[in-house]
Amino acid sequence: MAVQINPSILSADFARLADEAKAVEGADWLHVDVMDNHFVPNLTLGVPVVESLARATDTPLDCHLMIEAPDRWAPQYVEAGASSVTFHVEAAAAPVRLAREIRAKGARASMALKPATPIEPYEDLLPELDMLLIMTVEPGFGGQAFLDIMLPKIRRTRELISKHGLELWLQIDGGVSASTIERCAEAGADVFVAGSAVYGAEDPAHAVRALRTQAET
Ligand code: DX5
Ligand code: ZN
Repeated sequence: MAVQINPSILSADFARLADEAKAVEGADWLHVDVMDNHFVPNLTLGVPVVESLARATDTPLDCHLMIEAPDRWAPQYVEAGASSVTFHVEAAAAPVRLAREIRAKGARASMALKPATPIEPYEDLLPELDMLLIMTVEPGFGGQAFLDIMLPKIRRTRELISKHGLELWLQIDGGVSASTIERCAEAGADVFVAGSAVYGAEDPAHAVRALRTQAET
């Protein structure tokens, strides 16, 4: 299972986004948190910033939409240059149709679950997805403590993916750091979002390499 590390620019300096993207070249993806002040109690950025960021970096963009009405907005993020678009199942009116639309537009389709949302009702949807995101904090803010109680859900999801013989990536987001990443990798996650653990480090590129080494062992 190949490990991927996706730095989250939520913890970067928003006035220097192009430089902050360059600071983590070597990362697999750049994780872009889109928040609308409705689905989560925080506001970040939208389509115009994603367009500019896509021009400013060669690292593919992994857009995590923490917004209401993703059915309406998600396709615009593909057009803006995102190579992977994640919508929350709690907000989507028609998750299968939306995943198909994202794929048809040429991006990887991904679905996210908040901590209290179980995976089991969505087992039959997994073949429609390229990635599943299990939140390991309540979405909305960087720098929160990792929720250990999510480890069994990560494990059960990995078992479902194997049972169905799917290629699906299993991403986790929230509180990923040197002290939590090994537990998550052991539970079956293979794509790791890290905000404060990367951008809060003296050398963000080194932090990415160190997290990767830890997750691989
Ligand atoms: C939180 C965001 C995360 C956030 C993670 O709602 O979805 O991507 O940047 O930040 P850390 O890694 O600091 O928990
Ligand atoms: Zn995120």
